[in-house]
Order: sequence, then C-alpha cells, then structure tokens
Amino acid sequence: MTHSPQTPRTELAAFRQQAATLVASMTLEEKASLCSGADFWSTKAIERLGLESIFLTDGPHGVRKAADTDFTNSAPATCFPTASALACSWDVELLREVGEALGREAQSLGVQILLGPGVNMKRSPLCGRNFEYFSEDPVLTGRLAAAHIQGVQSQGVGASLKHFAANNQEFERTTTNSSIDERTLHEIYLAAFEIAVREAAPWTVMSAYNKLNGTFASEHRELLHGVLKERWGFEGLVVSDWGAVQDRVASVQAGLHLEMPSSLGKNDQRIVLAVQSGELPAAHLDELLTELVSVTLCALARRKPQSYDPEAHHALARRVAGESLVLLQNNHFLPLDPKRPLRVALLGQFIKTPRYQGAGSSQVKPTQLADVYSALMALTDGVWQTNYAPGYLPDGSTTDALLDDAARKARAADVALVFAGLPDSYESEGFDRRNLSLPEGHERLIQAVAGAQPQVGVVLMNGSAVAMPWASHVEAILEAWLTGQAGGEAIADALVGRLNPSGKLSETFPARLEDTPAFLDFPGQAGEARYGERGFIGYRAYDQRGIAPLFPFGHGLSYTTFAYSELLVAKATAAEADRGVLYTASVTIKNTGSVAGKEIVQLYVGEQNSRLLRPPKELRHFAKLAIEPGKSRQQRFELVARDFAYYDVRLHDWVIDSGVFQISVGGSSRGALLSENIKLVAERPYPPLTRNSMLKEFAEHPRSKASYRPLLARLSALFSGTPSGATETPEQRKARDMAEAFLSELPVWRLPPLLQGKFSEAELDSWLEQAGVTTT
Ligand code: BGC
Repeated sequence: MTHSPQTPRTELAAFRQQAATLVASMTLEEKASLCSGADFWSTKAIERLGLESIFLTDGPHGVRKAADTDFTNSAPATCFPTASALACSWDVELLREVGEALGREAQSLGVQILLGPGVNMKRSPLCGRNFEYFSEDPVLTGRLAAAHIQGVQSQGVGASLKHFAANNQEFERTTTNSSIDERTLHEIYLAAFEIAVREAAPWTVMSAYNKLNGTFASEHRELLHGVLKERWGFEGLVVSDWGAVQDRVASVQAGLHLEMPSSLGKNDQRIVLAVQSGELPAAHLDELLTELVSVTLCALARRKPQSYDPEAHHALARRVAGESLVLLQNNHFLPLDPKRPLRVALLGQFIKTPRYQGAGSSQVKPTQLADVYSALMALTDGVWQTNYAPGYLPDGSTTDALLDDAARKARAADVALVFAGLPDSYESEGFDRRNLSLPEGHERLIQAVAGAQPQVGVVLMNGSAVAMPWASHVEAILEAWLTGQAGGEAIADALVGRLNPSGKLSETFPARLEDTPAFLDFPGQAGEARYGERGFIGYRAYDQRGIAPLFPFGHGLSYTTFAYSELLVAKATAAEADRGVLYTASVTIKNTGSVAGKEIVQLYVGEQNSRLLRPPKELRHFAKLAIEPGKSRQQRFELVARDFAYYDVRLHDWVIDSGVFQISVGGSSRGALLSENIKLVAERPYPPLTRNSMLKEFAEHPRSKASYRPLLARLSALFSGTPSGATETPEQRKARDMAEAFLSELPVWRLPPLLQGKFSEAELDSWLEQAGVTTT
C-alpha cells in the first residue's frame, strides 16, 4: 500500500539526456574526479567538455559565503530566525517566503546549492544543534521544510535536505551508531525527509555523519538507494556531510554521488582502481554521474544575475521573527502600554547584545543587527522611564554586585523585564547541552528580580527547550528563540502590543530532564545511541506516559482568546475520494477577545484500542488563521490514508487497521480539544502466512478466518482431553479455554508433534493449503 502520491518528476529530468551524453564522452579519470569537491565548497569543472563547477554553502537560515573556512570574512547576508523559531510560526507560506529570500541572496552571491534545511527530529532537548532543527514532530517538520525548499528552488538555487538520517545528537556525531527499529525509523526519523522529498523534490540530500543500525549513513545502500531513490523517487544527488565519507568505494556503491570537501585526489584514485578491478561496475558509476551532472547542469542553467534589497529582507526577517514568538505565560502582564509613563527596569545583557543565531556551520554575518533595547527606546522614547542593569556576564555567570544592582532597579520600577537565555557556549553544533538549565547567572537574576518586584516579565533567547523552576514567580514569559538579525524589533513590538504573539511550541518544554522520553538512552554510550523509547518522542511520550510537561507541544498564548466549536468529521465525497481523501474535518474558530490575532489550529489523529501500541494521538494537519475580534473562521482539513496508517514491519509498508479513530482539533496538544470518533473500515494487506506463523495469526486472515474457529475448538478439545459441547463441566470448559490460549500462541508446525498423532501432518497440510500457505 503506497499512501503518498508519487514524487513529481523534477526539473532535473530535463537535463538527464544532456548529462548522459556528457558522461559518455568522459574518461574514467574525469568521471571519478567529479565524485568529490575541488576544494571546501566547489565541485570540479571539466574544461575540455565545457562543464563548469558549482558552489555549495551553508545554510538553513542565511547564506554563509566564504572563500574557504575563514567565516569571519563571510559575505554579509540576512540572518533569519533559526529553524526552532521558524517552526513555531507553523506558517508554511512564511517558510516559502524565507526560502525565496534565501534563494535570491544565494543567486546574488553566486551560490548554486544552499545546504539546508535540517530536518532531524528533536529527540532530546539536549541536542546541541536543536536550534537548527524544526520540531519533535515529523509532519510539522516535513511540511515546513518542503515549503523552505520550494522557496529556495523557485529562485533557481538547489536546496540540500540534511542530515540523512538519524543524526539526533552532537555527542560523537561522526562515529556514533543510531540504533533504531524499523517501524520507529519510518514513522518518526525518516518521515520528515519523506514529506520534504515527495512534496518539494530537493536537488540534493546530505547524508549524515553517523551510522544507522551499524552502517555509516554515507555507505548505507538501503537508505540512499532503497528508501530515498526507489521508494520516494528522489532524482537529485546525495552529497556527504563535510568529511563524512570513510570508504569512498562503499559510498559510491551505496549511491552517494558527491563527496565534500575535496579528498585531495585520494578517493578519486580509489574509484578509478575499483572500476578497473571490477569491484565497482562501470555502469553504476555512469548512472550516478548522470544524476550528478544533471544537478550541475540544472544549477548552471538557472544561474542569473540577481540583486536583492537588504532592507526588504531585514523587514521580512522582522516579520518572521514576530510570527515565531511564543507567549508561554501571561497573567494580564503583557502588553505594556507604550503611551503610559511607566517606570520600567530593563535587566539582562541580552537586551543589548542579543543571542540571535546558533553557533557552528550555520553562523551568518548579518547585514545589520537589531537589539531590543534600541527598538524599545524608539517605541517608548520620552514616555517610559527606563533603567538598565546587565545582571550577568557574557559567560552566563554573575556576581552579587550585578544582582544587587538589578534587584535595586527592579524595586524602584513599576515593572521589570528580564532578558535571559542560552549563550553560545551552552548550545552549539559540535556538542550537546549538559542539562536543561539556564546559566546560573541568568537563573539567579530572574530569582533576584522576582524577589524584588512582583510585576516581572521574562523574555527568553535560546535555541531549545529550557527548564524554568522560576516560572510561577513571574507574570509573563515570552519565548523569543534565536530570532535572527531583526528579532530585537519584533520582540519590542510584542512587548508593547504592536504585534500580537501567535507562535506555538514546536517542541515540548519538560518540567524536568528526567521526564524526557530519551532520558535513559541519550546520548548513548560505547558508540551506541539506542533509541529505546521507540516512536514515543516528544508529546507522543508525555501523552502515553501521562506526564505533565512544563508547556506542551502546540501551546502558545495570544493577547486575544479563541473559542473552538462545531467540529464536523464527514466521509469524503466521491470527488474528494478520487483525490485520495477519506474524511474531511471542519471546525469553527472565533476570536473572542478584543484585538486581532492569529490562531494555529491543530488536528491530531489517534487510533483507539489499536492492535499495535500507538501514541494516543499524532499531529496530522495544521493551519494558521488570522481572525479579527468578534469574527469567526472555518477551517477544513482533508484526511488521507497516511493520516491513519502505521508502518508494518512484516510488510515493510504502511497499513491501516480497521478500527475506531479519534479526530481531535484544538489550539494545543493538551487542554480543551474538540473530538469526534470515526469508524474506519480498511482493507489491509496481510503479511504472508507460513508454517512458522502462530495459529492466532490465521484468525484474521481472509483465507483462513472461517475455518480458524472450528479448528481451534477441535484442537483444544483434543489437547485438553475434554469433549466440546453441552456436556462440558465448568472444569472441562476452563481446561479447554486454557488449551485454546496455549495453542493459539504456537507456530502451526508444532501442532502435529504436540498432539501426538491426534492431529496429523497431513491434516495440517490440507488446512494450510486451504489458507494458501505453501507447505514445501
Ligand atoms: C555540518 C553540515 C554543514 C557542513 C558544511 C558540517 O559540519 O554538519 O550541516 O552543512 O558542515 O559546513
């Protein structure tokens, strides 16, 4: 059963013939030379054939163009909010706009492939690179990534979907083995890649550093060929993460087209020798080369002279940062009136020197940088009386003198705003966080200010969830994330109500590290990261285990309120069914407050009493709606087969069981969700039965269903030595019931020997023949 539409054939296909002709005229040495970079960022050219090189560079939230590895000298580019912020916008159209802007900047800087987006799942809040990833949910991640890719590629620049796959930690990231069962892999860790590949056809996919179930991702034929190309129809090229190739010949065999950066000729030589010795089939290399050259030709053909307006892109970055802010808590504290002569204590260095992007390969040199302090001054100048105190030092520590100063200023004010978060040294590409806490200096500042002033709001700048033991001591918490270069302006707008926060959490905020689903297995040990929590990642685990998070997935407040009503789930019409729709769900959302706002509507599906253990509910659809005060809007979702399906490891495919499914709709994964149950009848393919199948497996199979009950009754009567029928005593009945339970768990080949002649091999064979089981 294939639930998703076929991946559309891409613009790359138009270059396939020309690429094949070029490849046919290359020498073996020329072919091998194209399999690795010319230097750190560009591919090799073949002048003789007029094939130019292309330039690849990072990254997901801004173009980092540098000639080599001296990034202090990279060209200025707009720094957009990082993925963990972007994801909280839940705004697919916005992601497309960001992608378009990135594409324009890449064109203007002569970049043909932009290395991003990163769609690895946030398995633990401790992953140092979570700021660069979207969510703990594959549907949210996949849809946002697809829009990002479509935006970039609409400008004639290729995207690189990374890091394929199961790169969910930084600890020992280049050597660790991610050990994941097949179902979890497909349902959680591959699903976002699948959505992005099928919906947006990225020109390139980047293979991860780590091993997956014992094999390096860059040498994993099942992953790169079986899943990516055969199953999902990927037509582009696979590029290694930088330095991820261990065995170049094995990686060519697996389907990895391009090794980056340059191997200084060493691996090109190995490819030549492998083809000459017959270890590597020449035809296989030609096929990879044709795909690789198709991407090169497409990228070259779509180069164009381009300029962009840095001010317009800064304005976009500001709008995006605003859409991504999440108001976590608000006891009628925010917004603060910019026209009231308030005494406001502004505390914490981040208000003047914001943390606005992550550290590592995605670090961009911004075209300009806004800070909250200057933006607030501009909005409230001459009205508010403000007093600033730094509160802590750049490394996150503090002193009694700094705390006293902040507390004194807080006490003397009407309200205090504290700016805190995670400095670079706490979260970065290359290492994981040690715990969920804010730096001690930030934590102590919040506590000191809350002790001095009852009216405190906290603004957070961090790339991943943090613990907040102080949450109940403050009135408001605004999670700003790593907001990009214009975030200071967006935060100031939100604080004074020029902007109504509308973001919702794309990851659960745990109350304690011990509650996190991967607590016992993250980041693993002795070279092994065992995904012991299986598919129970993020809210799936908190729901299943009944653990209350600090703030749940999907949560986010507004300066207005919304009411949900009239959830209606209906069977698809004939026309809808032709498009693969099974059910539709519509719901009405009313803005019941006094200001305009945006609501993110979330639809979850959960199978009731499922045969296999499944999360109580899983996000399947979402939409962001702008609603004027007093007005209502209706949102309609179309549910397709995949929304109900799970991955069956016996069939290695997606299946649906007939059963009752709960459709829930609301503004958060927890709280007041409207829900309706539907009864779905699905024709599910049955895994083949064998002599090794247990007797009970024959119960559901259409071919053996009818004869199963009589056979079981007969065998259990024989085994327990009791007659079946009206003459049974209660004891005999009990013995027969127990025999039924015992026998139904056995592989059927064990029945004749167990029944010692009372049920012969020949009888078993004839029954199996009826059920279509080959007995030879
Ligand atoms: C990162 C990639 C990045 C590459 C090139 C690697 O270390 O994992 O995400 O694209 O470097 O900078």
